[in-house]
Amino acid sequence: MALIITLAHQKGGVGKSTLATNLRGYFAGGGYKTALVDIDPQGSLSKLVRTFSDQDGREPEHVIERGSYKTYKDLLTLLEPYDIAVIDTPPYLSKELQDVFEITNVILVPCKASPLDFLAIGDTLDLIRQAKTKRKDLIAAVVMTMVITGTDFTTQIRTELEKTEFPVLIAEIGNRVAYMRSLLKSNTVLGDENPKAREEIESLGKELISLLKNTYE
Ligand SMILES: Nc1ncnc2c1ncn2[C@@H]1O[C@H](COP(=O)(O)OP(=O)(O)OP(=O)(O)O)[C@@H](O)[C@H]1O
Ligand SMILES: [Mg+2]
Repeated sequence: MALIITLAHQKGGVGKSTLATNLRGYFAGGGYKTALVDIDPQGSLSKLVRTFSDQDGREPEHVIERGSYKTYKDLLTLLEPYDIAVIDTPPYLSKELQDVFEITNVILVPCKASPLDFLAIGDTLDLIRQAKTKRKDLIAAVVMTMVITGTDFTTQIRTELEKTEFPVLIAEIGNRVAYMRSLLKSNTVLGDENPKAREEIESLGKELISLLKNTYE
């Protein structure tokens, strides 16, 4: 049965889809059979893979689109052959998101390192708190994204986030052109000419694996 990592944040444009495709690439590269599940009606990742899948050098991506299952029980059946599934979700809170949390092992909440984006995180954390009352083993963690180097408010935002009960991962994702550029190449920054983004995704992937191992092994 696949371990499920779900990217969630009610705010748009915080990097959910970008992290989802990068993490899929990281886990697949590490030898885990990995699926990418796109439950966002915008279908950003499904479209991305359909548009560019015939480019040279692209490895086949295992994308499960929204129309390919009816219930989340059906989705679990589709995920049986996989080791890991990364689920990308839309930018709003819904009953559907609650259903997804019920089958999730780790909820990863990307928090854009800007004051207004930080203030928008509360409702998502509340929904996770509700889900945790039903599922004691559900892990949730925050990752800081689009961090601009040299800004002092990143540390302040981290300090504020650390006041919640949710761990804030050590890995931070920088605000880098490489993340945009990668979507026209292999959908990940892992082969990018700038190694910094690759190192960030590797650190994040490693932290997620150790969270999963600590809880589910
Ligand atoms: N670390 C980053 N550095 C720079 N740009 C980024 C980074 N992550 C994402 N982006 C860019 O920011 C925009 C929003 O990213 P993305 O689509 O991944 O967010 P999202 O949370 O999935 O948005 P939505 O909620 O609308 O689906 C995209 O143009 C993407 O290329
Ligand atoms: Mg998205």
